[in-house]
Amino acid sequence: MKETVLVTGGAGYIGSHTAVELINAGFDVVIADNLSNSDLQAVEGVRRITGREIPFEQVDCCDREAFKRLFERYEFRSAIHFAASKAVGESVEQPLKYYRNNLTSFLNLVELMRDFHRPNILFSSSCTVYGEPDKQPVTEQTPRKPATSPYGNTKQMCEDILRDSIAAIPEMRGIALRYFNPIGAHPSALIGELPRGVPQNLLPYVTQTAAGIRECLSIFGDDYPTPDGTCIRDYIDVVDLARAHVAALHRMLEKRGTERYEVFNVGTGRGVSVLELVKGFEKANNLKINYRIAPRRAGDIVAIWADPSLANRELGWHAERTLEETLHAAWEWQCHLDRREK
Ligand code: NAD
Ligand code: WQD
Repeated sequence: MKETVLVTGGAGYIGSHTAVELINAGFDVVIADNLSNSDLQAVEGVRRITGREIPFEQVDCCDREAFKRLFERYEFRSAIHFAASKAVGESVEQPLKYYRNNLTSFLNLVELMRDFHRPNILFSSSCTVYGEPDKQPVTEQTPRKPATSPYGNTKQMCEDILRDSIAAIPEMRGIALRYFNPIGAHPSALIGELPRGVPQNLLPYVTQTAAGIRECLSIFGDDYPTPDGTCIRDYIDVVDLARAHVAALHRMLEKRGTERYEVFNVGTGRGVSVLELVKGFEKANNLKINYRIAPRRAGDIVAIWADPSLANRELGWHAERTLEETLHAAWEWQCHLDRREK
């Protein structure tokens, strides 16, 4: 019998890539998503890549009764919880939407996992919990800073809910993966990121500028205290990130690790500036990006990158894809989307 994994938010960007890697690793997957920020085509993409009929349930994780029926229908021991609203700026304008969706869906998940004796929870956390760190690179011991957005606050709160629940439920295990900046797409170009409206994140803005959908990329600030004056991030390929979930899941299923609740950074350990990313994209795809230097964006931190050595050592996971491969895949995905539009 194959081990089944519930993937909430599995029609989304990171969830769909993780579903593929889970199936490649021999798991069965059930995807649950309310499609509030995704499209059924992503599920189709996962089916096409893997050649498998993956069960999809259109469920809102905030709807406890509907969510419960899914627990009654499927025998899984583990859940990966991607379902959440994720736009930092929107969370400042609509905090209640973020507290309602991200907290209610997660509380429902943890309670149902407890009630149905399903022991393993993998939670999508974020490097946003570190705020502006005092020292680079950040380790899991780097203190969390007060959240600078309601979105970030929900990530901190969900980490705490998971830690405290696991402490009180002896059969339960949990891992929070703190993602750095996920970018790229599956090399098949059948799944990738689907930004709604004007992209807020850097790489989707770059690919849309390259495609002529946006006229000009604004680089937010070139007077930061960094070598080229632009901000530094740790850009992690989405396929590498997806594989980190498989490694973390194995750790929980095999009950490795002395602690039942653990946290891991998922990054490359390499800091890349905005200008380096843009130049890298131009080189990887042999094209030019129209960009200008614009004022700093409010709330941006200067620099953050991961120390991923804990995940390297304990999960046996390493980021493998080169930045060039990642930037190439991102462009292939943009071209696929443009063809789909036409
Ligand atoms: P995404 O929006 O593409 O995926 C989230 C999915 O969850 C979407 O398909 C959406 O329809 C679904 N969803 C939202 N609320 C739901 C609900 N109540 N019930 C059922 N489905 C629901 O986002 P993503 O980039 O794939 O992010 C996945 C997770 O990773 C999120 O929790 C996000 O906060 C976290 N994360 C993302 C990033 C990033 O930069 N993309 C970085 C760190 C952490
Ligand atoms: C990266 C860099 C911008 C757009 C966000 C969330 C974080 C996490 C990952 C979920 C910054 C610059 C951007 C543009 C630019 N998500 N930029 N022009 O802000 O590091 O992180 O996504 O958990 O919580 O805050 O990512 O892609 O928005 O920005 O110059 O048009 O690119 O200033 O330096 P960020 P980003």
